[in-house]
Amino acid sequence: MTKTMHSYDAAIARELFSAAEIGAAIERLAAAIARDHRRRPLTLVGVLKGALYVAADLSRAISRLPDGPSEIYVDYICVSSYGNAARSSGEVRLLKDLSDPVGGRNVVIVEDIIDNGLTLEYLRALLGERNPARLRACVLFDKPYHRLVEVPVEYVGLVAPDEFVVGYGLDYQELFRNLPYLAQLRPEDFTDG
Ligand code: IMP
Ligand code: MG
Repeated sequence: MTKTMHSYDAAIARELFSAAEIGAAIERLAAAIARDHRRRPLTLVGVLKGALYVAADLSRAISRLPDGPSEIYVDYICVSSYGNAARSSGEVRLLKDLSDPVGGRNVVIVEDIIDNGLTLEYLRALLGERNPARLRACVLFDKPYHRLVEVPVEYVGLVAPDEFVVGYGLDYQELFRNLPYLAQLRPEDFTDG
């Protein structure tokens, strides 16, 4: 990081998706997931730290819908793929496992964003070995430009531009997660690596 970022506003180059647009995308994802898990139990697995807000907002949006899942469980798993760098190292590490077993459960992995696909591939393999009844994946933002692996994503919210983005859970060096919208940083405040 070249500068200390004292002001969030000054560091933001442009807003890519407003809080309202993100809210609408969450509602669409909730409707699709509820439809596919009607009157069945559902386990949402939020991927920390980035999917903190997505999993929280999505779980509540699903529970507001009539005729959705019979029960909603929310668990979190923590992985690290980027270290402190802006580009993926390609190596995914498990930092904190789920609290509860997922054997026999209808699981939806909830991710903030998919870029090269390695994080989701790792998680699908890890949780798939535990014999869930069904395993699906949901991402709020898709950056489809640099996939290293083809990994199925059953629920996609919004397609993000080919930029490093922050906000709504996504960070740059642990900052900006708390922004309610998705943003691109000013180039002078953002150095790769
Ligand atoms: P993948 O393994 O390249 O698909 O990346 C998935 C993970 O990388 C996400 O869970 C994010 O934590 C992180 N990531 C990917 N793109 C961005 C970005 O533009 N901003 C912040 N984090 C990102
Ligand atoms: Mg993440």
